[in-house]
Amino acid sequence: MSFNADQTVEALRAVGEPTRLRVLSLLAGDELSVMELSRILEQSQPRVSRHLKLMVDAGLIERFPDGARVFYRLSSDLPARRLIDTVLDLLDDAAGEADDRRLDDVRRDREAAASAYFERVAPQWDRIRSLYVCETAVEAAILEAAGDGPFERVVDLGTGSGRMLTLLGKKARMSVGLDLSQNMLNIARTNVARAGLDKVELRHGDIFSTRLPQHSADLVLVHQVLHYLADPASAVAEAARLVAPGGRLLIVDFAPHALEHLREEHQHRRLGFADDEMRRWLGEAGLKPSEPVALPPDTEGLTVSIWTAERPSVAEASAA
Ligand SMILES: C[S@@+](CC[C@H](N)C(=O)[O-])C[C@H]1O[C@@H](n2cnc3c(N)ncnc32)[C@H](O)[C@@H]1O
Repeated sequence: MSFNADQTVEALRAVGEPTRLRVLSLLAGDELSVMELSRILEQSQPRVSRHLKLMVDAGLIERFPDGARVFYRLSSDLPARRLIDTVLDLLDDAAGEADDRRLDDVRRDREAAASAYFERVAPQWDRIRSLYVCETAVEAAILEAAGDGPFERVVDLGTGSGRMLTLLGKKARMSVGLDLSQNMLNIARTNVARAGLDKVELRHGDIFSTRLPQHSADLVLVHQVLHYLADPASAVAEAARLVAPGGRLLIVDFAPHALEHLREEHQHRRLGFADDEMRRWLGEAGLKPSEPVALPPDTEGLTVSIWTAERPSVAEASAA
């Protein structure tokens, strides 16, 4: 695929301005909101919005609304990416140093707020989780989506209080729960011991870089974690990397919703995920997605979606 002449001229015009170059360079590192971009660029939001609109119109970047906020990321179209990569390659590293420092500040503030939240709520997490959804129905659907097992190795990323491990651990020869919060891990340790599970390893780690071996688990779970993350697509890619041939990834999170207050009060970064978006991420990560399952709330609350995807077995992969 390539741009026609008019598109190429429009894209080159859109790139050919200092602030817009800075924006492209920033979006190459992270998905960002107008508010965050305006803080990093030290320019007003209306001014930044004008630059963004021009680049959206030229097909260089994508705008994606999430609740009442709007985020931006680089376009996933090939010609646009080729042009952006080429232009960014020409820039020397010094050009964006100050912006990178301010981007790091934004990330640090975001992460500090999220981890302070989890350290604080760890003791009440099981109660908070049950405020949003009917857990019994969700857990029954998770058991069904996971399949009967037995599993060689289950990995639960962002394990929190370890609920997924206690739900599925008995079907696994061994399990690993990974989390960034030591407080959460301590609670998970107690819960796992109480459930009588001894082949469970609880480790401190980051979902974006788990350091777990490739293709090492036949069941990987990411339960109610993605909506806290600035780059959920990368977390999905890392989770998928762990799935062994013939193994399965289960992602459980909210369908798109409009409860803006969850951002401030509970540090949600994304207000749910659309099926199309998740299907694309899973496919790009080399997995074969199944039909998602949506579990609407009984009365008030949020719809929970379960997205399942498998890595083809060696035999399926070689027959394809
Ligand atoms: C909402 S809790 C969900 C916990 C558990 N999966 C559940 O459903 O009960 C989200 C968990 O993700 C963890 N978390 C957030 N960002 C993370 C990251 N980058 N890497 C690993 N864990 C992370 C938090 O510490 C928290 O325990």
